[in-house]
Amino acid sequence: MNTLPTRLLIAPSLLAADFARLGEETAAVERAGADWLHLDVMDGHFVPNITFGPLVVKALRKHTAMPLDVHLMIAPADPYIAAFAEAGADHISVHPESGPHLHRTLQLIRSLGKKAGVVLNPGTPVEAIVNVLDLVDIIMVMTVNPGFGGQAFIASQLGKIATLRRLIDQTGRDIVLQIDGGITPATAPDVLDMGADCLIAGTAVYGTQDYAKAIAALRAARRSGRPDVADGGG
Ligand code: DX5
Ligand code: ZN
Repeated sequence: MNTLPTRLLIAPSLLAADFARLGEETAAVERAGADWLHLDVMDGHFVPNITFGPLVVKALRKHTAMPLDVHLMIAPADPYIAAFAEAGADHISVHPESGPHLHRTLQLIRSLGKKAGVVLNPGTPVEAIVNVLDLVDIIMVMTVNPGFGGQAFIASQLGKIATLRRLIDQTGRDIVLQIDGGITPATAPDVLDMGADCLIAGTAVYGTQDYAKAIAALRAARRSGRPDVADGGG
């Protein structure tokens, strides 16, 4: 039995890119070896910052074949989900706090043929999602409070990541466990030891001169105890 993904996924967050050159910045991380492009949608209400909406997602869709991993930090989320789906989002992730009916929201995302994700803020317990796991394709653990890039990693979340790894393994499904916030080559080893499948990184990729080198450094953070390639289950 081995539930490790065959490959660690790296998802650069466009939040730290040059916003005057988003198309080029998207293509650049794809060339540099990124797996998914993480897109942070903020409304100035659910979080204290404003970024972009479906029009920008649609414009970026032409610039990459990477899955577009859309992280909605908006409330309410439901009225906008169809627009993000139509814009070309492949994954749509929501916070349980963004609406009163998380189960219905996940059903809506799935009904549009998209992968559905749930996001846990540092203060949000695992219990918030245990009753909707059957509708979830992605679980994202925030290791900063959402709203801004470049914040310090909150190490108190490591236990939550380990708990979610066990929960996911119990389901027998390949739900992707993503970590978002303060991820660097220094913080990634602990996160990967806890069983994360996907690292989201804004500053640690776009804040550097060499995106390929930055992505390779995150991949190399996986310690030898947890091999990058599944052993086939023996
Ligand atoms: C924060 C966003 C993150 C952000 C991470 O609300 O969800 O995706 O871009 O930025 P870094 O990697 O700089 O902490
Ligand atoms: Zn994010």
